[in-house]
Amino acid sequence: MEQKRYGHFDDQHREYVITDPQTPWPWINYLGNEDFFSLISNTAGGYSFYKDAKFRRITRYRYNNVPMDNGGRYFYIKDGDTVWNPGWKPCKTPLDFYECRHGMSYTRISGRKNGVEASVLFFVPLKKWAEVQKLTLKNESKEVKQLKLFSFEEWCLWNAATDMENFQRNFSTGEVEIEGSTIYHKTEYRERRNHYAFYHVNAPIQGFDTDRETFVGLYNEFADPQAVMEGKPRNSHAHGWSPIASHYIEVTLQPGESKDFVFLLGYIENEQDEKFEAPQVINKKKAHALIAELDTTEKVDKAFAALCEYWDALLNIYKVKTGNDKLDRMVNIWNQYQCMVTFNFSRSASFFESGVGRGMGFRDSNQDLVGFVHQIPPRARQRIIDIASTQFPDGGCYHQYQPLTKRGNNDIGGGFNDDPCWLIFGTVAYIKETGDFSILDEMVPFDNQPGTEVTLFEHLKISMDHVIKNLGPHMLPLIGRADWNDCLNLNCFSWDPNESFQTTENVSEGTKAESLMIAGLFVVTGKDYVALCQKLANGQWSMVNGQCDFAAEAARMQQAVDAMIEAVKKHGWDGEWYLRAYDFYGRKIGSNECEEAKIFIESQGWCTMAEIGAEDGMVAKSLDSCKKYLECEHGMVLNNPAFTKYIYEYGEISSYPEGYKENAGIFCHNNPWVIIGECLAGRGNDAWSHYAKILPSYVEEKYQTLHKVEPYVNCQMVAGKDAFKPGEGKNSWLTGTAAWMWYTVSEFILGIKPDYDGIRIDPCLPETASDYTVCRKFREAEYEITIHPNGAQKGVKSITLDGQPVNGTIIPYSAGKHIVEVMM
Ligand code: GLC
Ligand code: GLC
Repeated sequence: MEQKRYGHFDDQHREYVITDPQTPWPWINYLGNEDFFSLISNTAGGYSFYKDAKFRRITRYRYNNVPMDNGGRYFYIKDGDTVWNPGWKPCKTPLDFYECRHGMSYTRISGRKNGVEASVLFFVPLKKWAEVQKLTLKNESKEVKQLKLFSFEEWCLWNAATDMENFQRNFSTGEVEIEGSTIYHKTEYRERRNHYAFYHVNAPIQGFDTDRETFVGLYNEFADPQAVMEGKPRNSHAHGWSPIASHYIEVTLQPGESKDFVFLLGYIENEQDEKFEAPQVINKKKAHALIAELDTTEKVDKAFAALCEYWDALLNIYKVKTGNDKLDRMVNIWNQYQCMVTFNFSRSASFFESGVGRGMGFRDSNQDLVGFVHQIPPRARQRIIDIASTQFPDGGCYHQYQPLTKRGNNDIGGGFNDDPCWLIFGTVAYIKETGDFSILDEMVPFDNQPGTEVTLFEHLKISMDHVIKNLGPHMLPLIGRADWNDCLNLNCFSWDPNESFQTTENVSEGTKAESLMIAGLFVVTGKDYVALCQKLANGQWSMVNGQCDFAAEAARMQQAVDAMIEAVKKHGWDGEWYLRAYDFYGRKIGSNECEEAKIFIESQGWCTMAEIGAEDGMVAKSLDSCKKYLECEHGMVLNNPAFTKYIYEYGEISSYPEGYKENAGIFCHNNPWVIIGECLAGRGNDAWSHYAKILPSYVEEKYQTLHKVEPYVNCQMVAGKDAFKPGEGKNSWLTGTAAWMWYTVSEFILGIKPDYDGIRIDPCLPETASDYTVCRKFREAEYEITIHPNGAQKGVKSITLDGQPVNGTIIPYSAGKHIVEVMM
């Protein structure tokens, strides 16, 4: 059945155009690229923060509110007796026209009512700590319009966590200053903070409000603030309670006339000894300077053009033309965009992640990096160093760290035994993209302790060793608190609902709990590590500090990898698929012998990617089993059959109702693992059909209502076949799915794979694929690669580079522009 549509793609502008404000869920976008960030929904809801959504929240937001998504940056327009907002909310006055265009780091929301059009462009200019809101009001009627315009922002008292719980304090600390058309939020500035925020407009104002209760009224709502409804600002000065910022402007528009207003939400930091310009008066020098940079339409338009150019350049690095719009728009625009967003935010701030719960994950960030490294390699490089700095001397590591301090998070600690391997995964991707082996030479501390530095290479080595030193009775990796699946808690054994499944380890002494997922991950990253050591042994890049016999190291690790392969073949195979794990007592998990959850996706993905037992038919059987037991209309579920009861030896996984999250949900993140397994096995038709099922542009076409969340990005989880509503999506935006979808399509399906010495060409396609061209910037080179599949799913027959035949499948790297033709 055709479902209702709420919008469509505009590929030329790289936008998703929402045409109905009442989307099935708020459909959001992200503004900002480095330090200052905002979340914005299609009705202008959301909030802003500086670097860290928990510790430096600038504007307030109430999650899971009623109505949903209430609070944000609002413009109220009072035209006679009608009060309306360009984004429909919060007044919800029916509009004559509504449109929201989410683009690359900007959002434009336009509304029209009674002959007035209001269009707001929201973005964070590059390198600026501010959100620009350029409002254009246009009189399209034949009469003169006398409008009353009110802006609105609500300040958060900086720490988003205490902001929503410590009211005995909060209601007394709020402080503001007003100067001309600028409202300053200086709460806690008198004591330990050296930062403040401001909200400015580049026009004279005829009034303002800074106290929420005075502006809204205690018994009113954002939908009908008293000051707005009466058309009269109160000029209130907040003392404690809840400070806000609202400008009041009277606007006269002749027929056909339009006016721009530039609103600016900024953030400033001052030196300790320059905090004040007079007792109690904050030093506004930097605010004035920032405002001066963005106080005219021309300046703002220039900053916007720069942002667009920035995205042009980023999206020019990998561009495909297949003739299939649904594929091209995901590869060229939205998948890459989502990769940038997840790289920036890890799992901290979305409409499902509250910004107070989690910092940057060790494993998450290493995976995110693989989707991002081609865009801005220096940022990926820094990220690798930051992540490695939270490792411990034994190779274990903090599971998360806080972006503001870059320090490991003690609340959650370590003990997730897959974590170390991901450092190799991320670092190898970085070196292959850039050819920059010098990163291995960087001196990186343990647990951020100065004086403990060793080379990054040494960190990789101890990461491998951490797995080898933590093997269980079957010579498979001990799982620790959990592997990639945070909810398979085999040493937790909890009957106490107040204990966290992630951090509680009631029984690890004597554990036999082993993970086949880590086994596969170890083989994949171990092979990478061996290849890296061999490169280093060749002497081409012998700059790694200290003494290491790389040839011997390669041999040592190859043995460990071989041993792991043997262990998986011997103890990890169930006959039709790979086992998932052994529990605390050494009993099988994910076996045909089990009552429920006989098969899991993670070990199928990793062991097929590792090609363990391919020669014995294991890979093909495992992939077939995924199709048979895990696949459904909307993707592959995590396990099957779903758990129907809580098993305390297994932990959180069995706590979820059937079909949700880690209990047989379609956890999109791990679908690409199987797809890559399919690609390595050369099964292009199967790879494609799995891929298209979770590709947003395909879902967009068919299931906008059912899917519920944004149709232009992947979400973490889609309800599985056992759920109440299979196909319903949740937890959009911040998910490892982004990077894995990118890695899968760019390197394994389209087959353009960066390698140390060049680009490896090895596509795996459905047999219906037609010729396509990829333009790939790579280091100092630019390749235009045309692939002629000729009906083949896999297998490159011949390659020419600038007309000359190439031996093998690697195009050797050389700077400059090149034309490549590939016959399959
Ligand atoms: C979440 C976590 C990730 C974990 C996954 C599976 O996405 O961020 O670290 O691997 O869930 O549990
Ligand atoms: C919960 C979620 C899982 C996530 C974890 C992070 O267990 O189910 O997806 O990885 O929290 O702490």
